[in-house]
Amino acid sequence: MQRFRRLRRDSRIRALMQETRLCAKDFLYPVFVIEGEDIKNPVESMPGVYQYSIDRLGELMETVEKSGISGVLLFGIPKQKDPQGSQAYAENGVTQRAVRFIRQHYPSLYVAVDICLCEYTSHGHCGLVCNGEIQNDETLPLLAKMAVSLAKAGADMVAPSDMMDGRVGAIRKALDEAGFSQVPIMAYSAKFASAYYGPFREAAHSAPGFGDRKSYQMDFANGQEALREIAADIEEGADIVMVKPALAYLDVLKEAALEFSMPFAVYNVSGEYAMVKAAAQNGWIDERKIVAENLTAMKRAGAKIIITYHALDMAAWLKEEEQG
Ligand code: PBG
Ligand code: ZN
Repeated sequence: MQRFRRLRRDSRIRALMQETRLCAKDFLYPVFVIEGEDIKNPVESMPGVYQYSIDRLGELMETVEKSGISGVLLFGIPKQKDPQGSQAYAENGVTQRAVRFIRQHYPSLYVAVDICLCEYTSHGHCGLVCNGEIQNDETLPLLAKMAVSLAKAGADMVAPSDMMDGRVGAIRKALDEAGFSQVPIMAYSAKFASAYYGPFREAAHSAPGFGDRKSYQMDFANGQEALREIAADIEEGADIVMVKPALAYLDVLKEAALEFSMPFAVYNVSGEYAMVKAAAQNGWIDERKIVAENLTAMKRAGAKIIITYHALDMAAWLKEEEQG
C-alpha cells in the first residue's frame, strides 16, 4: 500500500521532506515616511505599522537591519500635494531625503522605492487628471522623472505601481539616459483594483478624491489579461514582475510563474495584513502559524520576493525556530 505517512512520521523526516522554506532574505518591508518632525504615527487599521518622519526613521531601520531581511520598499507622504504631484520628483522631496538617509546610515539594506503619483497628487489618482479622466501618456514623463530623481538620491531599485501603459519602457529609457542602467525595475505588472488596499490608503494618504482606480488597475475577474500585462512589462524591460495582492491571486502568480522564466514578486497587501491582525487580536487565530502558512503559500506559488508588513515578525520567528 502507498503510505504517504512514512514521510510524515516525525519532525526530522518532515524537515527533510519540506519543499518550501521561508527565509528572512525573501522579504522586503514596506515603510511609510512622512514629511515633518518627530512623528511616529500609528496606522489605525494596521497594528504595528507606523508613519515615521525622517528624524525618527533610524529606530525602525535599526530593527530592520537586525532582522536580517533584505531591505525596504519606501513610500513617501509629502506635506504639499498638487495636481501634478510635483513633490514626487522634487530633488528635496521627502522620499528623496528618506532614500539618502537610509543609504547613508544603513548601507546594508536594499532600498526599493514605489513609483507612483497618488501619494503626491491633490486628487489622489496615480496619474494626471484631465476632465475627470486619468491621462496615460501625459503621466509617463512624470513617472520617469520620479524614477530618475530617486535613483539619483541612491535608490537601489524602482517599483512602478501606477499601472499606466508603457511606464516600464519610459522609466527604463529615462534611467538609462541618466546613467542608471544598473538600477532594476520591479514592475507591479498584474496589479488588481482591490478592496484590499483600503488600510494602505489611510497609511499613505493616497485615497482617490473622486471615482476609483478601475480605469487603470485590473479587474479582479481577469487572469488571462494578467498574463498579457506581465508579458508587456517583460517586453518593456522589467527585471522583476509582481502580482498584487497576494492571497486571492495565487492562481495568477502560479500560472504566470510557470509561463514566464522571470523572478516574481508578490505583495501581501495592507488589507490582508489587517485581517490577520484583527482576527489575531481577538484570539480567533494563531497569528504566528497563520502568517507562516500564508507566506509559505506565496513562495510555494512561485514568489521569489515577498513584500509584507509581517516581514519583521516573521524574520524574528524564523530566527527563534533556527535556534530551536
Ligand atoms: C500606490 C500603491 C498602492 C499600494 C501600493 N502602491 C495603493 C493603491 O494602488 O491604491 C497598495 C499596498 C497595500 O495595500 O499594502 N499606487
Ligand atoms: Zn498610485
